[in-house]
Parts: sequence; C-alpha cells; structure tokens
Amino acid sequence: MDFTMDRGQWSGRGAFVLAAAGSAVGLGNIWKFPYLAGEHGGGAFVLVYLACVAVVGVPVMMTEIMLGRRAQRNPVAAMAHLAREAGASSAWKLVGVMGVVAGAIILSFYSVVAGWIIDYLVRAATGSFAGLDPGGAEAALEGLLGNPHEQALWHSVFMLLTMGVVACGVMRGLERAARIMMPALAAIMLVLTGYGLAQGDMGRALAFMFAADFTRISPQTVLAAVGQAFFSLSLGMGAIMVYGSYLERHILIARATIYVACADTAFALLAGLAVFSIVFAHGMAPASGPGLILKTLPVAFGGVPGGALLGSLFFLLVVFAAWTSSISIAEPGIAWMVENLRLGRGRACVIFGALVWVLGIAALLSFNLWQDVKLFGLSIFDALDYLASNILLPVGGLLIVVFGSWVMRRTHAREELPLGERWFGVWRFAARYVAPVGVTLIFLNVTGLLG
Ligand code: PFF
Repeated sequence: MDFTMDRGQWSGRGAFVLAAAGSAVGLGNIWKFPYLAGEHGGGAFVLVYLACVAVVGVPVMMTEIMLGRRAQRNPVAAMAHLAREAGASSAWKLVGVMGVVAGAIILSFYSVVAGWIIDYLVRAATGSFAGLDPGGAEAALEGLLGNPHEQALWHSVFMLLTMGVVACGVMRGLERAARIMMPALAAIMLVLTGYGLAQGDMGRALAFMFAADFTRISPQTVLAAVGQAFFSLSLGMGAIMVYGSYLERHILIARATIYVACADTAFALLAGLAVFSIVFAHGMAPASGPGLILKTLPVAFGGVPGGALLGSLFFLLVVFAAWTSSISIAEPGIAWMVENLRLGRGRACVIFGALVWVLGIAALLSFNLWQDVKLFGLSIFDALDYLASNILLPVGGLLIVVFGSWVMRRTHAREELPLGERWFGVWRFAARYVAPVGVTLIFLNVTGLLG
C-alpha cells in the first residue's frame, strides 16, 4: 500500500485544536446534552457526565490522537499498521472498521436532526416564531415530525453540504470554517445564556443541573452519561484518530486534549443552563425528549424584540456547529475508501453519502409513516442512536484505550506523549485500568450481569 499520497496536514496546533473542537462541539452539546439531562433528572446525570469526561473521555481522547498521529493513516489502516508494529493480531483493524460503520449510523440521524435545525432557521428568519406560546411550539414541532417530505428535503440539503465539503478535502474548508465559526458560536452561546439570566429562571436551571439527587441514578443513566461523553467528545469511532493523523509530530497531545475537552464541556453546560432557564420560566417540562430545544427556544425567541434576528443567528450557528461535526463523522469512512479502496475522494463521498442518506430516510420515517416499526422496543431513529452512542462508541473507545496502553509498546506511547514521568503514569493508569474497567462495569450493570 502506498501511503506517500498527499494526505494534507493542519497548519499547526491551534488549527488542530479548533478543528477537533469543531468536531466535538455540535448537536451533541446543544441538542442532545440538554434533553438527556432533562430526561435523566438533571444534576445526577450532569455530575456523572462530568466524571465520565474527566476519567474516561480525556484518556481515550489522548490515546486516539496518539494512535492517529503515530500511524498517519485512516483508522482502519492505522490500527492494522500499529498492530503490526506491536506484533499483535491484524484483527485490531476491525476497531477501525467498526468506527467507519458507527460513522455511517451516526451521520444518518445526525443529518436528520441538523435538517430540523435548518427548518427552524428558515422559520426563525421568516418571523414565524413571533408570539409563539409553548402549545404553539409543540404543535409546530409535531407538524415537522409528521411531515416526511419536509424532513427529507432538509436532510438531503444537509447531506449535500456535508459531503460537499468532505469531497473538497477537509483541510482548507474545515480549518477555515472552524476558525471563523467557533468564536462566533461561543459569542452567541453567551448571548443566549445572558438571555436566560435576564428573562429566564436561571436559579431553577442551576438547581436542576447541579443539585444531584443520587437516588435517581440507574445503570441506564450511567450508560447514557458515558455514551454521551463519547458522543460529545467525538470518541470511539476514529474521528479524532483521523484528525490526529493529520497532525504534525511535535504538537503536544495532552494539552490539546484538555483544551478540546474543556471547550466541549463549557458549550454543553452553557446550552443546558440557557435551555433550562427558559424551560422553567415558561412552565415547560424538562423531560421532553429529543424535541426539547425545538419546543423551548422558539418560545423564547418569539417573545423578545429582535427575536427573529437572534433566533436566526442562533439556528444558523447550530447548523454550522453541526456541519463542522458531521464532516468529522464522515472522514474516517472517506479516508478509508480513498486510501485503502483507492477510490477518488469525490466518488467515495457519493457512495458513502448515498448510503447514509438512505439510512437517514429510514430514521426520519420513524416519526411518521414507520411510526410502528420497532427494533428492540425502540423506533428506528432511537435504535440507531442507541446502537451507536451507547454501544459502538463505548466499545470502540474501550478497545482503542486497551490497544494504546496494553498492546502498543510503552516506549512507543512514550514517544508520542512526551509528558513528565508522573503525568505519563497518570495517563497510563487511567488508560490501562480506570477507563476500561469503568466502561466494562457499566456494561455489565446495564445488561444485568452484575447483580
Ligand atoms: N461530537 C459531535 C457532537 O457533539 O455533536 C458528534 C460526533 C462527531 C460524534 C464525531 C462522533 C464523532 F466521531
């Protein structure tokens, strides 16, 4: 296999951090985190989530970046190469294959949700939120979910946007997009939180998110929190690995990881506070499921002067946040098709995009025409999300971290992570024991195998 082809590279650490943050900050933070926190009782979920980010997410992210950078290849080829280097079984490349599959699954429902956001962007811009009350917002969302054509239209638009950028090569488009969009997104997030402070019930939002009632923690809650940590940090499917593979040798991985994890967490917490302060101020229900932000934010935007502008700006930036993430969800699969299957980048995008598009159609039909189709008691949309977030990503992350700390030679890991002896020891302990044991215990607990 010839890997001398020009794969491209980030212009420096700053660019990598921004692109990785662009991947991490997305619908997971703004759409998923608030509704999961709402469904799982608030504070208890948030605290378990924060613990998962710190003790599982950070070591897994460091390991993923390290593996990608060492191999300078797509995740499938990277795992095969590194396994060879370590004298281990070539079956490790299946971790990369699983990542490509997880990417296709995640992108399918991710694009559907991004499509809803585009739809809401249009509604905000055309002033249709003015004077909206909670009942009206609920009806508007039901109207959208009940309409397969409208959803299919925006899902198609978002898939075209995503594959369009990926087809052009990620470097120039993505790096520049992340540079412009990330600061803008941070600014609008602060404005929205400011709105929550001024107009919403921030006191109750804070209490809901940070006062933990630990009697509400069930094994399912913990699994949802760990799954969300993987999803939000883009871990377990090779996305951050492939981003790491475009990274130069001398960049310090540990510091970049901390920046990305902190930025991602800050976005999630701010989004949660903004959403819940609006939820409580309007007497709405925090446990409203995947529709939560679409039921709440339009009411807020519809009730203030200049709300049409603020709302349009907000949904536009959410679309961009989703876009810089969706590109990274596709990248492991595309890089694999280009480098291993020798397809042109454009053709790879058409094939991968078409497959994901079809899966997305199935996901959106589960809200209307295929409402009664259930897989293991879940709708198609929920089943795709559950399979990817709660199973494939944690299992992928577990294998990645086990490979990096048990299979790969210590000297090689040491070369990639030039930390002080003590910090290297902390990483290795977390990667060898804490993360794998933690994730395994959670799985055993949920499947009922543990007591
Ligand atoms: N981290 C993204 C978000 O929070 O929206 C979603 C995501 C990106 C998941 C990349 C997985 C991935 F590999």
